[in-house]
Amino acid sequence: MAKDDKKDGWKEFFWNPRTREFCGRTASSWGLILLFYLAFYIFLAGLFTLTMYAMLQTLDDHKPTYQDRLSTPGMMIRPKGEQLEIDYTIDFTETWERYVGALNNFLSPYNDSVQAQKNYECKPDQYFIQEDSGSLKNFPKRSCQFNRSILEDCSGITDRYYGYNDGKPCIFIKLNRVIHLLPSADKNPPFVTCAAKKYKVGKDEWADDSHKIGQLMYFPPNGTFNLMYYPYYGKKSQVNYSQPLVAIKFLNITMNEDVNVECKINANNIAVGSERDKFAGRISFKLRINSRF
Ligand SMILES: *[C@@H]1O[C@H](CO)[C@@H](O)[C@H](O)[C@H]1NC(C)=O
Ligand SMILES: *[C@@H]1O[C@H](CO)[C@@H](O)[C@H](O)[C@H]1NC(C)=O
Ligand SMILES: *[C@@H]1O[C@H](CO)[C@@H](O)[C@H](O)[C@H]1NC(C)=O
Ligand SMILES: *[C@@H]1O[C@H](CO)[C@@H](O)[C@H](O)[C@H]1NC(C)=O
Ligand SMILES: *[C@@H]1O[C@H](CO)[C@@H](O)[C@H](O)[C@H]1NC(C)=O
Repeated sequence: MAKDDKKDGWKEFFWNPRTREFCGRTASSWGLILLFYLAFYIFLAGLFTLTMYAMLQTLDDHKPTYQDRLSTPGMMIRPKGEQLEIDYTIDFTETWERYVGALNNFLSPYNDSVQAQKNYECKPDQYFIQEDSGSLKNFPKRSCQFNRSILEDCSGITDRYYGYNDGKPCIFIKLNRVIHLLPSADKNPPFVTCAAKKYKVGKDEWADDSHKIGQLMYFPPNGTFNLMYYPYYGKKSQVNYSQPLVAIKFLNITMNEDVNVECKINANNIAVGSERDKFAGRISFKLRINSRF
């Protein structure tokens, strides 16, 4: 008996035919509750859309709102093997032709004809400033020509194998793009220098390959990045920007041995990075050129 009562009590809680209540509320009461939540959620969605819209209005298409304060740009070399290692045998063409192919592709956008078509002949040795004036956007911003021919012996024009076939290879260096970076505080342009890298051979014992590196030649002269390529305003503002390059030709490197090289940027407005950030302002790589003779 008691059991049946309980069961009926539960049933009545869900649906009470006498009072026409469902879960203790009438249909109109439930309707009001649903209406309230519906209105509430529509209000929330509206608020979200409105804030999102307001925030997007404050973003500028042409420059990132937040950017890490990278005071020291990274450097990279071309051609780039997996381990930053250039290793080949002069007598076996197939061991170096991939480097030549990679450089042909890499330098193709720097062809004088391409540069003449895309870019502007800037006044050298000074920054190419193109600021916006107030809300008036200086857009699109122009970029300066970097002609492949100024790389001379490393341009691939006079010597189409970039010296790889006679053991005097060219390595190309570029500085990663940093928006608004002014690399020099005065008229002196930043320049690249390369030397034998020190490496550890034991506890407190260091060695380097300075006796093996041989003479180096830099293109453009002195390994400079001309100031006219700075500042960089970003991909969207400066659509045709060509990153300046420095080429290093190894004129008399020792064959059949590993040679550890480190190149770094010298600029009075760029601090060379710490050991912690090993790509900041410097890069090291290994060269090994084999010869049967
Ligand atoms: C650039 O010049 C080289 C020859 O110097 C040519 O093979 C290559 O197709 C050119 N690239 C472009 C994009 O014009
Ligand atoms: C780049 O090459 C083009 C075509 O030969 C030439 O007109 C232009 O003056 C050169 N630009 C620079 C900066 O040397
Ligand atoms: C970018 O290069 C194209 C040709 O490839 C040229 O028509 C355009 O005017 C250039 N834009 C700027 C901003 O220099
Ligand atoms: C290269 O550097 C030397 C000495 O620092 C300077 O006298 C010379 O004018 C520079 N050459 C170029 C082309 O900048
Ligand atoms: C090239 O380097 C070797 C030592 O590695 C040296 O004996 C030779 O004199 C150098 N040649 C030139 C032209 O500098």
